[in-house]
Amino acid sequence: MTVRINPSILSADFANLESELASVSTADLIHVDIMDNHFVPNLTFGLPVVQRLQQVTPKPLDIHLMIDDPDRWAPGYAEAGAYSVTFHAEAAQNAVALARRLREIGARAGIALKPGTDVAPFLELLPEFDQVLVMTVEPGFGGQSFMENTMPKLALLREETTRLGLDVWLQVDGGITEKTIVTAAEAGADTFVAGSSVFSTGDPTAAIASLRAAAQAHIH
Ligand code: DX5
Ligand code: ZN
Repeated sequence: MTVRINPSILSADFANLESELASVSTADLIHVDIMDNHFVPNLTFGLPVVQRLQQVTPKPLDIHLMIDDPDRWAPGYAEAGAYSVTFHAEAAQNAVALARRLREIGARAGIALKPGTDVAPFLELLPEFDQVLVMTVEPGFGGQSFMENTMPKLALLREETTRLGLDVWLQVDGGITEKTIVTAAEAGADTFVAGSSVFSTGDPTAAIASLRAAAQAHIH
């Protein structure tokens, strides 16, 4: 199984995003957090910034929408050329219709679950998605601690994707370090978002390599 390491630019220097993107050239995808100060109590940026990022990096963008009304706003990110667009299950009116629309435009469709959101209703919908994001912190801020009690969701998701023979990426986001990435890989994740543990280290290339090695040794 393939390990993917997706640095989150939430922890990058927003005044120098182009050089920050260049510093993570060994990443698989670039994780971009969109927050609207309604769905989460924090605010980042929106579509115009994503359109510009898309122009200055050859890396595929992994958009994480922490916004209300993704049914209305998510397709614009797919139209901008984002490789993957993930919206929150708690915010979507019609998750399946939205995922179909994202795929139709040409993006991978992802659904994200907050720590308190049960995964059970989504297991039968897995063929509709290319990625499930299991939040391992409450969405909204970087630098929080990994919540190990979210791991049973990954185990269920991995069991179901294997049973159905689906290639759905299982992503974790929040508090991922060289230590917690092992726990998440063992639980069934294959796609790892890391913000502070990549950008706050001074050596993003080395950080990505260490995270990748730790995950690779425990993925199954
Ligand atoms: C949090 C964001 C994350 C954040 C993770 O709501 O979705 O992508 O950047 O940051 P770390 O890796 O520092 O926990
Ligand atoms: Zn995120």
